[in-house]
Amino acid sequence: MRKVSGVLALLCAAMLAGCGGGEGGGAGDSITVGFSQVGAESEWRTANTRSVKEALAPPEFNLRFSDAQQKQENQIKALRSFIAQGVDVIAFSPVVETGWDTVLQEAKAAGIPVVLTDRAVKVSDESLYATFIGSDFVEEGRRAARWVIEDSEGKPGPIRIVELQGTVGSAPANDRMRGFKEVIGEDDRFVIVRSQSGDFTRAKGKEVMEAFLKAEGGNIDVLFAHNDDMAIGAIQAIEEAGLKPGTDIRIVSIDGVRGAFEAMKAGKLNATVECNPLLGPQLAQLIRDVHAGREVPRRVVVEEGVFTQDQAEAELPNRKY
Ligand code: AHR
Repeated sequence: MRKVSGVLALLCAAMLAGCGGGEGGGAGDSITVGFSQVGAESEWRTANTRSVKEALAPPEFNLRFSDAQQKQENQIKALRSFIAQGVDVIAFSPVVETGWDTVLQEAKAAGIPVVLTDRAVKVSDESLYATFIGSDFVEEGRRAARWVIEDSEGKPGPIRIVELQGTVGSAPANDRMRGFKEVIGEDDRFVIVRSQSGDFTRAKGKEVMEAFLKAEGGNIDVLFAHNDDMAIGAIQAIEEAGLKPGTDIRIVSIDGVRGAFEAMKAGKLNATVECNPLLGPQLAQLIRDVHAGREVPRRVVVEEGVFTQDQAEAELPNRKY
């Protein structure tokens, strides 16, 4: 009897190790990763989560995934819990840019390397994270502005723009706004008449666009939305106000999700600047390298393009998100 229970105990221990259930986060030979995601606010985010989960799959990885529901306090709690569990590597996409120094110092003190994905942080000590993989959000903002300028060729000023910003304090909202203003500011026909956050969601994008339309009447020429979801919400608001999105108001947004391609095909959205969410495979490689103590680049930038209405129909079947 004692022999049987001894074998059982051994089996249990082996199973726990295999599932990463042991103390210290160790999971046999697999790499235990604590991943804190921003939330599920957009089509982009859903595709990003899927890509991360597929790439950080067993048996190579033992993923502990946490959804912050767009709240920094939830992310800080998740990171502290990963530190307490002694995971091998922490990866996260920070909701906002600032306020990370303390928790990242705690991870460093515990000897857990941190990989940033999608969004960057502003910290006093750059050694608090090993590497950052994500898009160049400033360039995305510039690309949107270049499209607006090209699209407005020959039109006299003033050309009145409204801007739907992403989550306040987030890297994509800060950087896209900066890149857009930098380029649009070179042409004095353009004036940004309203700018407000729609928190990267369809519902908020619609709500804020309704307020813009109420305040400006039909006096809006261009909408720049920091993501496709907000543009899709705004399109609904524009239609409900009796205007034609894509014609009465020219619209450019960012991400390049399937919903944007469908809206372009229907003539309601004019252009989308690509922001690739399929970061999983590259993130997995960085995690392997960091875990093995190999040298990694400080910054890995994702390659992206711009798509317009005339490309939408042909491109739609190729979209992977
Ligand atoms: O950080 C990337 C941004 O976050 C995407 O553009 C947006 O759709 C998402 O919510």
